[in-house]
Amino acid sequence: VPDITSTCKDASAGIRNKEDAVRTLKCCPPSLGKTIKPFVFPTEETVRMRWPAHNGTKEQVDKYRAAIKAMRALPDDHPHSFVSQAKIHCAYCNGGYSQVDSGAGFPNIDIQIHNSWLFYPFHRWYLYFYERILGKLINDPTFALPFWKWDEPDGMPIAEMFVPETIDGQPNPLYDVYRKATHIEKRIVDLDYDGKDKDIPDKTQIDCNLSTVYRDLVRNGGDTTSFFGGDYVAGDSPVANNDPSVGSVESGSHTAVHRWVGDTPGQPNGEDMGNFYSAGYDPVFYVHHANVDRMWKLWKDLGIPGHVEPNCSGWLNASYVFYDENEDLVRVYNKDSVNLDNLKFNYIENSTEAFPWRKSRP
Ligand code: C2O
Repeated sequence: VPDITSTCKDASAGIRNKEDAVRTLKCCPPSLGKTIKPFVFPTEETVRMRWPAHNGTKEQVDKYRAAIKAMRALPDDHPHSFVSQAKIHCAYCNGGYSQVDSGAGFPNIDIQIHNSWLFYPFHRWYLYFYERILGKLINDPTFALPFWKWDEPDGMPIAEMFVPETIDGQPNPLYDVYRKATHIEKRIVDLDYDGKDKDIPDKTQIDCNLSTVYRDLVRNGGDTTSFFGGDYVAGDSPVANNDPSVGSVESGSHTAVHRWVGDTPGQPNGEDMGNFYSAGYDPVFYVHHANVDRMWKLWKDLGIPGHVEPNCSGWLNASYVFYDENEDLVRVYNKDSVNLDNLKFNYIENSTEAFPWRKSRP
């Protein structure tokens, strides 16, 4: 994977209506003239425990809101700014790589980071730095992201904290204007959303969602390749979203949530969540991806034979470059993303039922 600083170009392909794009196509990261350092694992004792967004304490929600507010207050060209963080996704999806329009309603397909086995590790690292940056902004070394726990009935609605436009008379930093309003009001996500509303009772939607999680983690995710996605290297012909080299969660619940939150047809390119170039502008993106990342953990915790990470060097040694919480450019490898103990974050789970979808075999 090319370096973010040397090879990045303006976002170009995969955006149907460039003229009307509501977000900038200039997605390259700020260049601070820094040399790339090797990544060092965090040395702190505390493990950042990511919490279910629907169940946060007032303190957790207030801290999260304060951190996003501080991030939004930074100048756009700061590597920690809300806009710079959003652009990471755009740059990795659109920065100088071949693109293909899948024709499937989620048209901005990147052949490097998405639709292949780079999907899980890339997004794990993206959130890893994002979380540490937010913590630094509010001076809290224990700061942990919320996750949108769409695999549990109570967690399926979009969390209340994202919804109001203002809070105590101030703009809500977690609000994003480019969301599909009717979905946000109705609030129970459709994990199998294909662009059409199903118009089914909540109870049925909940059962469907549990089946979808079962499908993505068990039935369609039975081995390394079907869960992570296939080997994919630059120069291969482009793949569509239903290509077998796309992992089960990525092509399933992951993409469904993007499309369900994004405003299609209200915005020209399904902004924000419905298009890769703009998805990072919605705070919900990171909360959704925290749960996607958690699916990797749960998939392993199922303890089913075959539920293991890729172990060939093409995967282990693939790398990305990010600005860390100290504004240093660091190179990180897939192989270092595997062990959560080393990365000092984890997910709060229910003590009673970690897999409410376990019996929801479709
Ligand atoms: Cu990088 Cu949810 O996509």
